[in-house]
Formats: sequence, structure tokens, C-alpha cells
Amino acid sequence: MITWEELENAVNNCTRCPLCEGRHNVVLGTGNRNSDILFVGEGPGYHEDMEGEPFVGAAGHLLDKMLASIGLSRKEIYIANVVKCRPPSNRDPLPEEYNVCLNWLRWQYVLIQPQIVVCLGRIAAKALIEPEFRITRDRGKWYYKKGVDFTATFHPSALLRDESKKRPAWEYFKAIKERLDNIKKIN
Ligand code: URA
Ligand code: SF4
Repeated sequence: MITWEELENAVNNCTRCPLCEGRHNVVLGTGNRNSDILFVGEGPGYHEDMEGEPFVGAAGHLLDKMLASIGLSRKEIYIANVVKCRPPSNRDPLPEEYNVCLNWLRWQYVLIQPQIVVCLGRIAAKALIEPEFRITRDRGKWYYKKGVDFTATFHPSALLRDESKKRPAWEYFKAIKERLDNIKKIN
């Protein structure tokens, strides 16, 4: 087992993939380390790299609004990414990068022990649910993995690019909240 402190130290010094070369900060994740719900995005962008925090740019602001609409805030959830260092020019992280970096997310998962994992966008869903995942076809489905509910919805950046995706995404956030409330009732 590893402690949060050990994990932070290890990740801050990680050079396991080439993304270490361009980073200003490693972005491990933030939020409630005892949360029942873990959100996973793609990777740090410009602002995240500069500040060392996930989802602090425009996509992050939208995510905050969506969380608020279902009565949640960053204090209640944990949020991380499939890669901890910013890909150059914000390109998608490559499978060979996230497959190495997922080692760190796995430790976060073990420490947090969430009941629900919400993948934000295609890359996280491919990395955590299955490689053939298609966001338009498979978003909103629930996948059970060793007692934990995994699901995926649009990445907030996709909602910023295409307004028509906002309504289904907001609806789906309500379904996620309902499931979270049900889990809390059972436990
Ligand atoms: N997009 C992501 O996927 N993650 C972040 O942390 C910020 C933007
Ligand atoms: Fe290490 Fe992940 Fe950063 Fe690659 S992206 S250097 S694996 S922390």
C-alpha cells in the first residue's frame, strides 16, 4: 500500500513517459479523498499545467456549473486525469502515454475507493472502460467492474464546442447524482 504523500512525491518526480519533458507542474488530482465518486478527464491543459490543478480553465468552469446543478461541488468529489502531465499543444494523450500513467490513477483509485467512476470524454472512457468505447454510442451506459459503477459522458470541452450536447449531458448528470444518492442510502 502507498500513502498519499508517497504517491505525491513519486508522481511529482515521474519521468516514465515523454510528457514529463514539457510540463511546468504535474497535475495529480484534487478534491475529497474519501469521495464515493471519482471524475476522470483527459489531461492537463495550459492553465492546469501552470497551476498544478485539474479543470481550472474554461472546461473546468463549465464542469463546476454542472456539478452545482446537481448539488455537488469539488469538495465532495475527487477529480483527476488519465495523464498527469500536459500533452504538447493540448493534443490527445496517446495510449502509450496513458497506459503508463494509469499506474498512478490506479493508486488514487485504491486510496479513494470510489463507488462510481465518471469518465469525462472519449479518452478517459477508452482508457478506463474499454478501448473500443465510442462516446456517441456508449455514453450514459453503466459498466460494473468489481463492484464499482463506471460510466462516461461528454467532456466539458465538447460541450463548449457544441451547444447541442449540453442538454443530454446535464440530464445525464442528474442520473449520476441519483445513482450516487442510492448508493449512499444502501451503505
Ligand atoms: N481537460 C481535461 O481533460 N482535464 C483537465 O484537467 C482540464 C481540461
Ligand atoms: Fe509520469 Fe504520467 Fe507525467 Fe508521463 S504523464 S511523465 S507517466 S506522471
